[in-house]
Amino acid sequence: MDGTKKDPRLVFILLAFLVATPFYAFSPSASQAVDTPPVGDLRVGDLRVEYLIDPLGIDVRIPRLSWKLYSPGRGLMQTGFRVQVTAGQAGFLDAAGLLWDTGLVRTDRSVHQEYSGPSLESRRRYYWRVKVWASDGSVSDWSPTAFWEMGLLEDDDWTAGWITTPLEVDPSVSGPASYFRRSFPLQGGVRSARLYATSRGVYELHLNGTRFGDRVLAPGFASYNRRLPYQTYDVTELLEDGENTLGAVVGDGWYRGFLGFPGDRNVFGTRLGLFLQLEVVYRDGTRTVVSSDEGWLTSNGPILSSDIYNGETYDARAEMPGWSSSGFDTSSWVPAVPAEDNTGTLVADLAPPVRRIEEIEAVRLLDAPSGGSTIVDMGRNIVGWVRLRVSGGRGVAVRLVHGEALGADGDLYTDNLRTAEQADTYILKGGGEEWFEPHFTFHGFRYVRIDGYPGQLSVADVKGVVVHSDLDETGTFETSDPDINQLQENILRSQKGNFLSIPADCPQRDERLGWTGDAQLFAPTASFNMQVAPFFSQWLRDLRADQYEDGSVPWVIPDVLTSRGSAATSGVPTAGVGGWSDAAIIIPWELYLRYGDVRVLREQYESMQAWLFYATSQAGDDLIWRPGFHFGDWAGEVDTPADLIATAYLAHSAELMSSIARVLGLGDDALEYAGLFGRVRAAFQSEFVSIFGNLSYRTQAAYALALRFDLLTDTQKVAALDGLVDDVRDNDTHLTTGFVGTPAVCPVLGGNGRADVAYDLLFQTTAPSWLFAVRSGATTMWEQWRGIEDGVFAESEMNSLNHYASGAIGEWMYSTIGGINPDPRAPGFKNVIVRPIPDPRLTYASASLETMYGTLSTNWRLDDAGMFHLDVDIPTNTTASIYLPRAQAESVRESVTSLTEAVGVRTVREVATDVVVEIGSGSYRFSHTLLREPRIERPATGFPATLAFILLALMSLAGLLIRGLLTE
Ligand code: BGC
Repeated sequence: MDGTKKDPRLVFILLAFLVATPFYAFSPSASQAVDTPPVGDLRVGDLRVEYLIDPLGIDVRIPRLSWKLYSPGRGLMQTGFRVQVTAGQAGFLDAAGLLWDTGLVRTDRSVHQEYSGPSLESRRRYYWRVKVWASDGSVSDWSPTAFWEMGLLEDDDWTAGWITTPLEVDPSVSGPASYFRRSFPLQGGVRSARLYATSRGVYELHLNGTRFGDRVLAPGFASYNRRLPYQTYDVTELLEDGENTLGAVVGDGWYRGFLGFPGDRNVFGTRLGLFLQLEVVYRDGTRTVVSSDEGWLTSNGPILSSDIYNGETYDARAEMPGWSSSGFDTSSWVPAVPAEDNTGTLVADLAPPVRRIEEIEAVRLLDAPSGGSTIVDMGRNIVGWVRLRVSGGRGVAVRLVHGEALGADGDLYTDNLRTAEQADTYILKGGGEEWFEPHFTFHGFRYVRIDGYPGQLSVADVKGVVVHSDLDETGTFETSDPDINQLQENILRSQKGNFLSIPADCPQRDERLGWTGDAQLFAPTASFNMQVAPFFSQWLRDLRADQYEDGSVPWVIPDVLTSRGSAATSGVPTAGVGGWSDAAIIIPWELYLRYGDVRVLREQYESMQAWLFYATSQAGDDLIWRPGFHFGDWAGEVDTPADLIATAYLAHSAELMSSIARVLGLGDDALEYAGLFGRVRAAFQSEFVSIFGNLSYRTQAAYALALRFDLLTDTQKVAALDGLVDDVRDNDTHLTTGFVGTPAVCPVLGGNGRADVAYDLLFQTTAPSWLFAVRSGATTMWEQWRGIEDGVFAESEMNSLNHYASGAIGEWMYSTIGGINPDPRAPGFKNVIVRPIPDPRLTYASASLETMYGTLSTNWRLDDAGMFHLDVDIPTNTTASIYLPRAQAESVRESVTSLTEAVGVRTVREVATDVVVEIGSGSYRFSHTLLREPRIERPATGFPATLAFILLALMSLAGLLIRGLLTE
């Protein structure tokens, strides 16, 4: 087919504009106010600001607005929009009340439209709505009104002061939670009230006797000393005329609890603190502010101690009924004292909160072999805690110890928790039914051993509370194979369990840190399963803040390892590792690809440059990075040299930087980084490719990385692909890879015509393989391929049963089985590349993704007659390039017509054995008979280099012989 043909999508977009031209000709100009009545059945909705629905308290001065178009029609693009913003809903009715009216803007942009009206002010709520025009001449009605509200933008907006308890605290152990309260009068009718709050530690808020807000573990885990997130609450409805009382409880949390290397604690400070500012606006417009200050009282209470790793001890006898109500007897409370100020570090929390997401029932009770205790099986490995019902005598202590598995003796297995106790203790107050759940900890567990329970425990007394960052679930994935479906479920569950405020490695042992490597490897999969943009963006800002001056990026973000505790004295570096620190470049790029987010590239650009500079300087003149300390192909079964991995990542990061610079319009940088990529690639070849054209280290990880990062010549690629396939076969179709190699294996096999081998690996059920854990009954992803084999635990130090890294296969499942691929030329799924590669072991697969433009879905089925049926739904205002596998254009049907007659099908071409169809939005059904031969696309070989090398070698040998003979 014609390789020089214009990109068909360009033709399509041009056509869309031509269709819309008559409409433009009669449209008022952008500056004029137009209020065209709706035409057709076009709708606009799901209005978001900075990815969020109606956010409160944001501090982005130029927020980005996004919306979705809905229309059943085919091939529909947005051709224009009009956004209106007011500072009060009534403003829409009256032109004078509008703060910003874009008029008709002719563009197909419907995501990340930057606000560019008058400067936004602290505290103000801005209402907005949008109307859109589409390429078929239809016009939507105004969207429902949405809003965003600004937080406190200026330093002097803060009048609150930090307070803490004057009570003695022993910094070497988990301390009691501090309770704070203050009563204050209000009169005159409250029109609105906002509470801005944060803490040193983790907090819960109370108002007039009840806990409010559904956040848990706020303010989350962040690089507190540099960026401390505050949360904004609308408390209008909770306040009353007369006396009101605000209360807060603060526990150790990540701030001063155990964190990092075993035994380390007080990473951010030794004293808890509270900072809040309540701003009340009365009906007459006057205002009053109640802030944390020395007017607050404090006391210890029933939470005797709490710790993220170790759990919580709660003594219900010490409860203080009514402690957050007015009129409570405060005689035993003491005035709070001021604590060091650091308002300069306050930032608005822009990520979805951590919440109690779900409550699950226990499934069975087992008698612990040790006697006296009961083990509760929750049926699956979850992250959160237990809500327990108990009745018994005052002072009876019930202890709940959480673990992920049972040992060979049938007792709770806790060796893999290392020093983390994961134990909550509840001391009963007595006198009836009591319910306990902890406040300031979380556990990774499937089993709970309950010691000291008074009376007969029943399944109904134990609820599992599932806790994680409340990110929207955006993906679905299902196939005809139950094991693969279970794998998908396990990946998602491990994502949920570990996306708790930060992307963490594990949720159970004394670690739970934001390991950069794990995060970057899993980010593509994560973004299929959930809307991760604000979550990762917030974490990336911490990465930037914690980055060293020389550009090196810490192993974990927030950086709790460097220069603190044991790391400071051990001399072990805790930053700058290839494949890990590259998260600085890879994750922003993924957010760009998947959400069309250019701003994150711009914001992180300097950080990325600094990292690349650091990595390049570590590699030195020969551009081979021989890192001092490294993780290699972590948790793999075969070692791959660290210098190969680090150099491969250096090349990859350089190449990504070149693309990123291009997106940002920085041509010189793009050239420079492309040059760097070329040089590192060449260095890689001369260092790691033998004269016979094959890699000198023949491991699956080495092959997979070299191929995935495009580090080889065409000839070398052929050898590497063969080498990879041979190695897989030599290992009886098993993986030998670890965290770094694993995500690359199936994509390079599938992308080079060997999806059959990739599927073989996916369907493998003995270790090492993904389905080994599934077949072993795992309900989450394991850190080690052989986490538990024949009842034997792999090891105790590093054997998390809830570790998402190997779940990075999810990306391949969505993209190759489901067929959903982002298009770097039209990021954010403005164009999607739908390219499923079916396998006879599956009779159907379906996948969907809620993109920034709407729901994208694919669904294919292989019927008994060898026909392949593919249904796709393409969101309005987007296009799709559909690759129909092993097809002939003439024999493909769309619904009941041929491709040439199908409405919405723009162009058709053939690429190898695929038929590529460019379509616009709408629902389509393609059917064709699969050609017998699967597509095997081998990279072009060019001159047979291996042969050349052999000849060369023979010639030199002959030369030597002749010289030898002559000199004799
Ligand atoms: C973590 C990993 C991390 C690794 C570094 C481990 O302790 O759990 O997920 O990437 O350290 O090799």
